Amino acid sequence: MRRMMLRWGAAVVMAALALGVWVVDPTVTRADSNGENVCHGDAGDGKGPAGLALPLKPSSFRDRAGVAEMRDNYWFWRISEGGQVEPFKSKGSAMPPWKGTLSVEDRWSVMAYQHTFTGHQGPHVPWEHPESVAMGHDIYRMSCVGCHGAQGKGDGSVGATLSPRRAPQPRDLTSSLFKFRSTPSGQLPTTSDLVRTISEGIRSSGGPLTIGLSGYRIMPSFRHMPEEQRLELVEYVKSLNKAFWERAEIRTVEIPPRPRVTPERVARGKQLYADAECRACHGDRGRGDGKSAPELKDDLQLPIQATDLTRPRRFKNGRRPEDVYRTLMTGFAGTPMPSYADALEPEQAWDLVFYVLSLSQGGTP
Ligand code: HEC
Ligand code: HEC
Repeated sequence: MRRMMLRWGAAVVMAALALGVWVVDPTVTRADSNGENVCHGDAGDGKGPAGLALPLKPSSFRDRAGVAEMRDNYWFWRISEGGQVEPFKSKGSAMPPWKGTLSVEDRWSVMAYQHTFTGHQGPHVPWEHPESVAMGHDIYRMSCVGCHGAQGKGDGSVGATLSPRRAPQPRDLTSSLFKFRSTPSGQLPTTSDLVRTISEGIRSSGGPLTIGLSGYRIMPSFRHMPEEQRLELVEYVKSLNKAFWERAEIRTVEIPPRPRVTPERVARGKQLYADAECRACHGDRGRGDGKSAPELKDDLQLPIQATDLTRPRRFKNGRRPEDVYRTLMTGFAGTPMPSYADALEPEQAWDLVFYVLSLSQGGTP
């Protein structure tokens, strides 16, 4: 049955729309109130109040395997046409067509929201989106080549002249080392991690590369670029590294709900900061001047600065408590900043997060 539905989906090619929109935060938030949950339920399990009364039961979006099997063009078509086409109509499907009610963009938002129920992060198969990859390549040639180089090897003409013989250099996008991930140490980022990097750009603690870029950035923010184009860029970036094509399952690091900050938590965090040897690199007061700081090198053997933790505005991976939590649990691949996922319990990680964020106020909450 599912196989047949897939063929149906493939017949309705929506080339221009064949993008993995998935879990982009603003898209997801916008979609929350579009009304489908009357049937599919607030928890996306197909048990909404109206759904329980229908002859053909609404799908459960919590069914991981089912969601993973559905391609985005099929999904889009299904939302647009609803159940008023075969093979669903004769089975008595009550799903209304949304094409008259929701704009194209809104329908993609609904899809992105539906995907959040399973934690599914998109298909990651660039070869299924040849048009997107080609378009992404064009945009890349205009916006990224200067730093990341014609083949994505990080050897564009601009990078090396702006930050000679120091880290960070523009990344070799064909390598598997990515710093900003929601995935465990040693793994590739998700689609939404890459969208976030491109949208946010990359900040730094200062230095020559940031001159001329707003907000202490060493890589500019491409937030102004239409979302479709940013997604096409991401498809192109993924096409540079075969490992994106080959991975089967994507797991992300869980971020439990943020507890309340208390002076006790900050005090425990301070102790952990000493015990976990953060001091050796980041220094007693977090200024990035620990005793091993002068010797730190990245994987390219270039000297690298331990982050000045008293300046959260310049954090590359974000400065919300959830962002710092993610940094500690994932580490920055290719740098001396390790992952503490195996060393810290979630409660301890939160204590440390609160202490790190207190450093900009001299170590008090
Ligand atoms: C002004 C130079 C510059 C430009 C332009 C630039 N980047 Fe970057 N990019 C960098 C630097 C520098 C890094 C490495 C930062 C670091 O390691 O802290 C980087 C890193 C990255 C990363 C790796 C992120 C990670 O998780 O480690 C990606 C992906 C990326 N850039 C994509 C792009 C794309 C796509 C474009 C074009 C839209 C682009 N960059 C344009 C300088 C640039
Ligand atoms: C071996 C040295 C080393 C140790 C130990 C270390 N760090 Fe780091 N840390 C670094 C370096 C180097 C960077 C910057 C990497 C970069 O800019 O790419 C970093 C980055 C960070 C960041 C990221 C800021 C941003 O830009 O988003 C945070 C937060 C952080 N460290 C906190 C800690 C904490 C807390 C500990 C102890 C649990 C710790 N680090 C242990 C070297 C270290």
